[in-house]
Amino acid sequence: MTTKDGKPKAVEQPQFYGRRRGRKLRPAQELALHEGMEGYALTSAELTALSLDPRPWFPPQRKQICLEIGFGGGEHLAARAAQNPDNGYIGAEPFLNGVASLCRHIKEQDLENIRIWNDDVRLFLPHLASASLDAVYILFPDPWPKSRHAARRILQPEMLDVLSDKMRSGAELLLASDDPTAKSWLLATAYRDDRFAWLANGPSDWRQPPADWPGTRYMRKAEIAGRTSVWFRFLRR
Ligand SMILES: C[S@@+](CC[C@H](N)C(=O)[O-])C[C@H]1O[C@@H](n2cnc3c(N)ncnc32)[C@H](O)[C@@H]1O
Repeated sequence: MTTKDGKPKAVEQPQFYGRRRGRKLRPAQELALHEGMEGYALTSAELTALSLDPRPWFPPQRKQICLEIGFGGGEHLAARAAQNPDNGYIGAEPFLNGVASLCRHIKEQDLENIRIWNDDVRLFLPHLASASLDAVYILFPDPWPKSRHAARRILQPEMLDVLSDKMRSGAELLLASDDPTAKSWLLATAYRDDRFAWLANGPSDWRQPPADWPGTRYMRKAEIAGRTSVWFRFLRR
């Protein structure tokens, strides 16, 4: 794409409204972050190509490639990676303290099947090859409950355009939330998209977590506060 005067058009940077940093990291967290990023971070330099195949980033036995968008402290991603050592897991999270927490889990559990994108997922996803993802998790995303902030919610029709290209036919999209606004938004946005089929026959399918569900930090916070969570499983047709 070029501008009127023939210059290449700048790629529009998506606006990220969340936090990139929290409390100052303790020395042990700094060390885990440093080691984790050295070993497992995906860098912008690696993303110069389009149609990147993520399979070579993982040990050769990898069976499935799964992406978690907004992994927070990384508890869910690390647990899945430990449960399924033959799968490759990519996590995207701009919040550095969350990345430090994931790096600690990687170190403590000696995990080798995780790659980290420490930035907005929308800068990363377009580079992936079509049909390269077997599962995508968007768990307890920031709800942005005010309607004037609806455009800030991570699941948007445009996000589904990209995901539908990057997910293979039969891949699963798992959405979860405890927040009333986010529950309706997630379900309605994905349900309206014909490229995804909702895997629900009755209330137990969204009121109970899927098999092998390891939980997330935000889900635990919701439980303590007495809020009910839901899980919406969609299939890429
Ligand atoms: C409410 S937290 C939930 C964290 C985690 N999934 C959990 O359940 O504990 C939402 C997370 O999504 C991340 N996030 C928001 N927008 C994002 C984006 N565009 N790309 C990647 N992560 C994003 C935030 O930084 C935040 O850590």
